[in-house]
Parts: sequence; structure tokens; C-alpha cells
Amino acid sequence: MGFLVQFVVFMLFPWFLSVRAEENYSSQHCDFPAIFNFGDSNSDTGCMAAAFYPEVLPYGETFFHEPVGRASDGRLIIDFIAQHLGFPFLSAYINSIGTSYRHGANFAAGSSTIRRQKRTVFEGGTPFTFEIQVAQFNQFKARTRKFFNQDAQGKNSFRGHFPRPEDFAKAIYTFDIGQNDIAAAINKVDTEDSHAVISDIVDYFENQVQTLLGLGARTFWIHNTGPIGCLPVAMPVHNAMNTTPGAGYLDQNGCINYQNDMAREFNKKLKNTVVKLRVQFPDASLIYVDMFSAKYELISNANKEGFVDPSGICCGYHQDGYHLYCGNKAIINGKEIFADTCDDPSKYISWDGVHYTEAANHWIANRILNGSFSDPPLSIAHSCRAQ
Ligand SMILES: *[C@@H]1O[C@H](CO)[C@@H](O)[C@H](O)[C@H]1NC(C)=O
Ligand SMILES: *[C@@H]1O[C@H](CO)[C@@H](O)[C@H](O)[C@H]1NC(C)=O
Repeated sequence: MGFLVQFVVFMLFPWFLSVRAEENYSSQHCDFPAIFNFGDSNSDTGCMAAAFYPEVLPYGETFFHEPVGRASDGRLIIDFIAQHLGFPFLSAYINSIGTSYRHGANFAAGSSTIRRQKRTVFEGGTPFTFEIQVAQFNQFKARTRKFFNQDAQGKNSFRGHFPRPEDFAKAIYTFDIGQNDIAAAINKVDTEDSHAVISDIVDYFENQVQTLLGLGARTFWIHNTGPIGCLPVAMPVHNAMNTTPGAGYLDQNGCINYQNDMAREFNKKLKNTVVKLRVQFPDASLIYVDMFSAKYELISNANKEGFVDPSGICCGYHQDGYHLYCGNKAIINGKEIFADTCDDPSKYISWDGVHYTEAANHWIANRILNGSFSDPPLSIAHSCRAQ
């Protein structure tokens, strides 16, 4: 570093420190070399499509103009994060075709849970639980290092496809998982103690984050879980209910209160865990992002923000007790029905009744990336510790 540059950095630094509310976080843009993402279908960029069956159109129609293993018409929040940080879209770790891992890898897989599952893959369970995703990451890191050491002279071409060993400590680790655990807890709300279950889910999450800390991860960007009670497929308007819901069952947006309350309880316990981990690991940066509030704000202001009613589903057929999911065909009441897309997905918050549209993901990403839903209130570009 030249004398002048050194001088400027030195002079500016105390000033930056004094205006930043958060001591010890970087005043400069963090120089993340890579992103490693863990999660479920909210951030799966091709894992399930590569492992099992590819998706069909109209998935992907808006941005990619073909199905690309994402549960949306276009980009996901993780795609907007990657673009915002100047990276190409993240490749799914198990996708073998046309992928590069130079700037990170995505371990997220649709239907993944934090806890281990009792159901097998054939019963609709996921093999890619959070624990397995972390094990895959561990293997990815170890094998990357091995190849790098074997190829010390850089004679082989694969170097350009992997992160450098030193990138792992400087990378940002992003998380969006827990929604499927909450969904399972909702299904069993009458038979199990959901408070104990939710505590257990959060303990499992903490264990895996501890493992990643042990592997040298230092910057964590952790999304809490969204308002699951606002997913349109579960709303009474799309279900033939034989009783009228009682007072207090729904909120003013048509969302199911007790389901959102379970998500809120998970989020509260998750936040306590993040705060606890910060004390245990003072050199790490653990940012808790209130995804619930960001999504709920959009749902509450749907019309004002240019969207149709939040119960609207762009793609799919959900009427009279029938649920035909986006892209599927079936004979219903003697008529062949194709669960097709709407005219203008950008007017809908919900793409397929469960997942958000690209337009909604973009709206949410714009609000979380600048730190307005973060604790501490840091933008993603400033979420690392000062070096
Ligand atoms: C900043 O880091 C120093 C040294 O690790 C520590 O003593 C101090 O408590 C930290 N401040 C905050 C606000 O975390
Ligand atoms: C973040 O961006 C959103 C959307 O542009 C804006 O409403 C909000 O005030 C911004 N927050 C901060 C802390 O800059």
C-alpha cells in the first residue's frame, strides 16, 4: 500500500467509527469473496431439480424464460443478494452441469428442514436436512483445499471453478430455513407440545451454526422465518371449509393467526440464540434479519405497493377443495384442467400459493439488503467484522 493510501485510510478510520452505531463492524464495504447459502425452497437454486425431477414451465417464465430449479417465476431473494454483492447466481452444490463455485455454493434444497426427518424421500421427506447441508459444505471445503494443494502450480483448469482456501473465512454465510419445520409442527399442533418442538428446532439450528463456526465461518446473515399463516394455499378462501372460522382465527389480511404465532415463537427463540452465540463468538458477526416483518409489511400493504390482494395465487388451481399445483394437469369434475399461470405475475405476491413471485422477492430484497430489517441494523455489504 502506498503512503498516500495508507494516510487516507488512517485519517478516515476514526471518523467512520464515530458515525457508525455498531462498533467493531466494518466501516468499509466487506470484501466477500464468496457466498455459502443454506435453506429450503425459498432459496433453492437447483438442488432438488438436479437431484430428482426438473421443474416445468411456467416456473421460471418471467426472468429465465425456462425452468431453472427455482420455486418462482423468476429470481429468488438469494439471487438478488448475489447480484447486489456483484456475484453470478449461486450454483446448487449438487448440480453437475454448467456450474461454477468460484464465488460460493448453494446447499439449499426444497422441502428441507432444520431437524432430521422421520419420513423417507419416498414418503415426501427430504434427504437434505440442515445437518446434511452442513456436512456437504464441510466436504466441499475439504475437497477444495485438497485440489488446491495438489495443484500448487495452477496447471489444471479447475482452480478457476472453486473458491480459494482462504475465501472460506472471509465469505458470507446466508441462511433461510425453518419454514418446513414450522409447517410440520402446525400439522401436529393438536398432538404435540409445540413450545417444546420449537425449542428443539432452534437447538438443532444452533448446533449446525456452531459446527460452521468451528469450520471457520465468521459472517452469518440469518433470515428468520416468514409469516407461514399468510401462505394463500392454507387460507380459507382457497379451501372448502365446512365451518366458518371463529373470531380471531384470521387477521385483517386473511392470514391464519395461530400459524403466524408459531412462526413468531420460532423467530423469538432464534433471535435469543443468535444473541447468545454473539457472546460466545465475539469475533464473529451474526446478523439476524427479520424476514417475517419484511414479508408481512408487503402483505399488509399489497394494494398500496401495486399488488393484488395477498390471497391471490398467480399460478395454480385452488378451488372447491381441489388443489392442483402450478404446472400440473388433472381431470376435475369431468373437465381437464391445467394449473396455468396468470396474465401478469408482477401483480401477485404469491406465485404458486406457497412461494413468492419474483416481483415480491425483489420488493423484499430491496428492503432487507440495506439493513432496515437487520439486527444490528447493518446493510449486507457492511455485515462483516472490521478486519
Ligand atoms: C469490540 O471488540 C472488542 C475487542 O474484541 C471488545 O472488547 C468490545 O466489547 C467490542 N465491542 C462491541 C460493542 O461488541
Ligand atoms: C431501505 O430501502 C427501502 C426501500 O427502498 C427504504 O424504504 C428504507 O427506508 C431503506 N432503509 C434504510 C435504513 O436505508
